[in-house]
This record gives sequence, structure tokens and C-alpha cells, in this order.
Amino acid sequence: MNKNLIEQAKQARENAYAPYSNYAVGAALLLDNGEIIQGANVENASFGGTVCAERSAVFTAISKGFRKFKAIAVVTESSPPASPCGFCRQVLAEFAPDLPIVLSNPQGEITETNLATLLPMQFRLK
Ligand code: THU
Repeated sequence: MNKNLIEQAKQARENAYAPYSNYAVGAALLLDNGEIIQGANVENASFGGTVCAERSAVFTAISKGFRKFKAIAVVTESSPPASPCGFCRQVLAEFAPDLPIVLSNPQGEITETNLATLLPMQFRLK
């Protein structure tokens, strides 16, 4: 399953809109029903308007009515593979505090982790 999820994240990365950083990111979010939702980073001339690939995927899933996630794969060009930024960690935590996370790059390096490790003591309003 990880292999397919990484493949989908790679595919999503091709849709990244990153003319300012030239750093394309793809994400693939596995839902509890087996469906996969892709996300890519979308940058903006007003830099603060940029949305990361992970949040693109989460917001797409939520907008479609899906709230149960089983895993996320993230593909960047970085070696070792880059992990989600703090913002994305907190957004993922809202829906899946222990979410398994697979990080990869085009060279085929793979790092497996989970959200509880990347974001301990997650903020909750209640
Ligand atoms: N980016 C992501 O898509 N995900 C992250 O977790 C970190 C950064 C994007 C935002 C921006 O378009 C580019 O990578 C460089 O920061």
C-alpha cells in the first residue's frame, strides 16, 4: 500500500504550482474507505497565500465529506525526504493524531514515521 501511496504523491507533485520556490511537493492521503486524495502545493505572489501539499489534500478530503484518514505520503525533492511543516502537522492532528506518515523522494528514499512522533503534545481547544 505504501508503494501505491507514494506513487500517487509523486503524481500529485507534478501538479504543484511552485513558481516562486521551485520546490514542488505532492501528497497522497489514504482514507479509511481505501480512496486516495491527492494534494499539491499551490504558491501565490503574496507568499502568505501559499498552501502546502499536505493541507491541500486534507482540505480537499474534508470538502468532499471525508474525515477519517489512514495514512499520508509526501514526496519532495529533498534527501533525506522532507517532513511536513508545523502548520501541516497541526492541521493533520485535527483529524488524525497518530496518522502514519511516509516520506519519499524521486531517488526512492523512504522514511516512515507518524504524527504523534512529529507533533507531541498536540494543541486541542477542548
Ligand atoms: N511545502 C509543502 O507543500 N509542504 C510542507 O510541509 C512544507 C513546504 C511547500 C510550501 C512552498 O510552496 C514550498 O514547499 C517551499 O516552502
